[in-house]
Amino acid sequence: MDTVAPCRTLVVAAASRHGGTCEIADRLAWTLGNDLPLGWRVIRPELSDLRALDDADAVVLGSAIYYGHWMRAAAHALAYLKDAPLFDLWLFSTGPVSEVETENAQIISADSMVQAGQAIEHKVFGGRLDTSRLSWVERAVVKAVHAIPGDHRDWDEVDAWAHHIAKQLSVVPAPSDGTKGTSNEDALP
Ligand SMILES: Cc1cc2nc3c(=O)[nH]c(=O)nc-3n(C[C@H](O)[C@H](O)[C@H](O)COP(=O)(O)O)c2cc1C
Repeated sequence: MDTVAPCRTLVVAAASRHGGTCEIADRLAWTLGNDLPLGWRVIRPELSDLRALDDADAVVLGSAIYYGHWMRAAAHALAYLKDAPLFDLWLFSTGPVSEVETENAQIISADSMVQAGQAIEHKVFGGRLDTSRLSWVERAVVKAVHAIPGDHRDWDEVDAWAHHIAKQLSVVPAPSDGTKGTSNEDALP
């Protein structure tokens, strides 16, 4: 009789105001779904229901950055995950649409989570700035900070990061004792 590999769940979720970050999360989920071996399933829930995170063995969580911070829904999800049993967590931010990105508080705090061993990696992707979608207040802000309109997302870079995560998850042994996930030290560098 064939043995059935235990099903493990990867959650890919993101907060987005104008859709650009959601499209990155969609692409990550799609590529990861293709790459991961049998025994993994990838789900792509909305962040409005944090219970989707309860069943996760691994999470890829991202957010657009506005005014230097992650969006509220993603920040809540991150706080929720901090109280959860340890599992594999990857973070990504989208935003930089100009050269001025060093003041992003969330980029700094997500980086420090990696340094503290609470997340495996934090990736920063270029964002999309479609001025036709912005409110007049937003338009004034982006003008003031000299942000460059356009689509700064690099899909090859997004795919490469998904492949990189899939490679790491593929070598994580399935938990045999019912515990979730692994320590971050089990991941490849
Ligand atoms: C009003 C406004 C404020 C922004 N603030 C930041 C910021 O502080 N740091 C940054 O890197 N990007 C900033 N951005 C760029 C957005 O993060 C970027 O356009 C992102 O891709 C939008 O994602 P979304 O389409 O998922 O909402 C800002 C954009 C707008 C419109």
